[in-house]
Amino acid sequence: SWTMESIVEAKVAEIRERVGDARVILALSGGVDSSVVAALCARAIGPRLTCVFINHGLLRKNEPEQVEEIFSSQFDVDFVHVHAEERYAALLAGVVDPEEKRRIIGTQFWEEFFAVAQRTGGVRFLAQGTIYPDIIESGARKTGGRAATIKSHHNLIPFPEGVSFDLIEPLDHFFKDEVRELGLQLGLPGHIVYRQPFPGPGLAIRIIGAVDAEKLAILKDADAIVREELDAYNERLFRQTGERNSAHSCWQYFAVLPDIRSVGVMGDERTYGRPVILRAVESTDAMTADWARLPYDVLAHISSRIVAEVGGVNRVAYDITSKPPATIEWE
Ligand code: XMP
Repeated sequence: SWTMESIVEAKVAEIRERVGDARVILALSGGVDSSVVAALCARAIGPRLTCVFINHGLLRKNEPEQVEEIFSSQFDVDFVHVHAEERYAALLAGVVDPEEKRRIIGTQFWEEFFAVAQRTGGVRFLAQGTIYPDIIESGARKTGGRAATIKSHHNLIPFPEGVSFDLIEPLDHFFKDEVRELGLQLGLPGHIVYRQPFPGPGLAIRIIGAVDAEKLAILKDADAIVREELDAYNERLFRQTGERNSAHSCWQYFAVLPDIRSVGVMGDERTYGRPVILRAVESTDAMTADWARLPYDVLAHISSRIVAEVGGVNRVAYDITSKPPATIEWE
């Protein structure tokens, strides 16, 4: 629409004027907010924006490739793909405690980021995808949400000694649905603009117990099936209702890999494999959530696909707990 177009133009002009001929750096996660900031800055200053994409190996299947494709071919920015998978794997080996996983992942994230910032040199500005609700939440954080500790407001970034940037937060007056509209206006694809929330620590907190390469591979494959089927389910609801977030569309959905084994049977053989837990919730703000009343045939289809297509998995369970008393994530 022309109003969105004019908002984009105003923001672009504002960024251009503020930045002048300086360089801007951004931690690009591939989520909605950081992607929209990247797209805005790309239009304003092009390759004087350095987008740092830190690949910790804990992202969903095909996600790193998609982010790289968009920001290295569709937008003219300086895109830096940091392959930190092996460093993260080593740091996380044997770590079981969820908060310890979060601490390790968060600390390493900023180390990787500042290493690139230093290497790039001459960076004056740090762009952040802070949106209006983030500011409200970091001021008066309600209980039950852990998102703010990592997807933090800027005052929580652990700047190394002597490092400082001027902040650019072009989305700090917008709500999420407005940010999505900006994203569409800027030409970002639907799979980015309508992406569901994804925790900073990624799949590490969806593998109960210690993370290893085998579990990660299983979880990525199972999760890809869950997303494919429930994306399609949401799309069917959207066609029926004309609303993106109709009462029964799923808000967040994923697979969880518990640290147990279960007995099954395949052909004449007894199997001793892994169960996968399906988690799908309806929510508007993640503070409370209800488990999605998915049709049985949708559940049945997901279950048979996972067991047939993901090696080592012989059972699928559905989490029928709301938040509270549970949380959306399992860790
Ligand atoms: P819970 O599990 O607390 O999750 O009900 C609420 C929302 O926050 C996300 N989440 C996180 N996001 N870092 C993040 O950036 C985290 O450590 C984290 N833990 C949970 C979760 O996916 C849900 O959307």
